[in-house]
Amino acid sequence: MIKANYPLSKFQDIQTPFYYYDLDLLRSTIAEVKTQSAKSDFVVHYAMKANVNTSVLEVIKNAGLGADCVSGGEVQAAVDAGIAPSKIVFAGVGKADWEINLALDNDIFCFNVESIPELEVIDELAGKKGKTAQVALRINPNVSAHTHHYITTGLSENKFGINMSEINKVIDLSLTLTSVKLIGIHFHIGSQITDMTSFQGLCVRVNEIQETFDARGIVLDHINVGGGLGINYEHPNHFSIPDFESYFKVFREHLILKPHQKLHFEIGRAIVAQCGSLISKVLYVKVGTSKSFVILDAGFTELIRPALYQAYHRIENLSSALPDEEYDVVGPICESSDTFVKNYMMNGTHRGDIIALRSAGAYGEIMASQYNLRKLPKAYTSDELK
Ligand code: LLP
Repeated sequence: MIKANYPLSKFQDIQTPFYYYDLDLLRSTIAEVKTQSAKSDFVVHYAMKANVNTSVLEVIKNAGLGADCVSGGEVQAAVDAGIAPSKIVFAGVGKADWEINLALDNDIFCFNVESIPELEVIDELAGKKGKTAQVALRINPNVSAHTHHYITTGLSENKFGINMSEINKVIDLSLTLTSVKLIGIHFHIGSQITDMTSFQGLCVRVNEIQETFDARGIVLDHINVGGGLGINYEHPNHFSIPDFESYFKVFREHLILKPHQKLHFEIGRAIVAQCGSLISKVLYVKVGTSKSFVILDAGFTELIRPALYQAYHRIENLSSALPDEEYDVVGPICESSDTFVKNYMMNGTHRGDIIALRSAGAYGEIMASQYNLRKLPKAYTSDELK
């Protein structure tokens, strides 16, 4: 079994559980994003919802990526991290007035608007400030992402975006509003998408939708196709950097841009997932009647993805080179769903062993909770533990 390199001796002295971020891997991943996106002058916003750890954000800011936000808190975090407001987009079906005002005060690049009433409220609030808000319409393209149903967003049954049948109505409305300027259209079909034909389907739909705007003589400066590129959770050591080349190629080959248009992306998981691990310690190995349980000091309070989406995270015992044995790896929380994996083969395990739950850099630390009055996990980086 190939294991990743970790500063194990440093880990011994740190209170577990904690998140560990390999910033060198993050930098290499972002370098690849930039190389591949630059081939077509694509604009990349980092989806803040995946991870807002300050060290991670600093690397992202230094690389010059923009930010995709879904709350006032995220807009503020992006601004605080030093990301230029001219690179910030703000989506979300339920933007509160204070969140819209905060974004207006910071002069962000664009609101991704998800409904007619929201468009009217943004117009009203911008008007009160004597400002013009740049908006993109988030259109629900009714394209399947072939991913877990909790993270599918682009079907007409989902709550996100404006239905295609309403586009003309929204265009009519936006032409009457004086404090919003329609500058683009926005899409996001789901997350952890590994089947590139889903993105191809999105491109075809975007091309069709562009015709509606063309027919109305409306010039859109940009198209935003959201995020969603999946990563390889089974083999993080072999596929540590996602295949951005193939991903961007799909859009280059299938999405027809007008000469003046720019294509924007909102990538979260594919940028940060593989650089993060949840590091935990084995509290007990409990031998049951039919199986053995490895009981960790981390649970779904630190990493909720397995409990919430039946997600798989590769687990490595960093302390052991013993032959493989079969275990259920579980957390300490008082719920049966606090199980990371069942019937899992890993190196023979003992109390005190250090365990890495891999590919946890996206939607890991940020989704942690204090259930059972547990403490939120701390995080350390490869730069700090060098
Ligand atoms: N843009 C919008 C409008 C989104 O809703 C999302 C993710 C993204 C971009 C970024 O998608 P990504 O590139 O990360 O796939 N907690 C779930 C994932 C929820 C994703 C929500 N939206 C998980 O742990 O799998």
